[in-house]
Amino acid sequence: MNVLVIHGPNLNLLGVREPEVYGAATLEEVDRAIEETASELGITVEVHQTAREGEIIELLHDGMGRVGGAVLNPGAYTHTSRAIGDAIRAIDYPVVEVHLSNIHAREEWRKESVTGEAALGVISGFGVHSYLLGLRALSDAMEPDR
Ligand code: DQA
Repeated sequence: MNVLVIHGPNLNLLGVREPEVYGAATLEEVDRAIEETASELGITVEVHQTAREGEIIELLHDGMGRVGGAVLNPGAYTHTSRAIGDAIRAIDYPVVEVHLSNIHAREEWRKESVTGEAALGVISGFGVHSYLLGLRALSDAMEPDR
């Protein structure tokens, strides 16, 4: 089974960026933990990081017919991007949205997730584990052989 993992804007700065909010782990360390959990689950992951909204949409489209699911952290696009929400609705595989921080325990504007409305589910507030829990949730939800 193949899974796309997409990190959105500013997540390349993990470890440096507001560590009190997002934790001390770098993106490389997060990706290593994702790889470990994926191999435990028998999943092959393809990991991307991009600051560009359109690229997130294209990556989601490109997964059609090729991947069984995606774990997506849209960063701040979570709160604004109807286009990413529509892309999630358009594709033929499940997307689990993840956040390192608990978006419901922060500023008012972060509480709404316009992308999460289209996702299979949202996991928020468990740091690196949000990604790992997302992978586990997907491995149960995906059709076999994709
Ligand atoms: C985030 C939460 C968003 O509100 C923020 O803009 C991010 C990271 C998280 O993982 O906690 O960039 O998605």
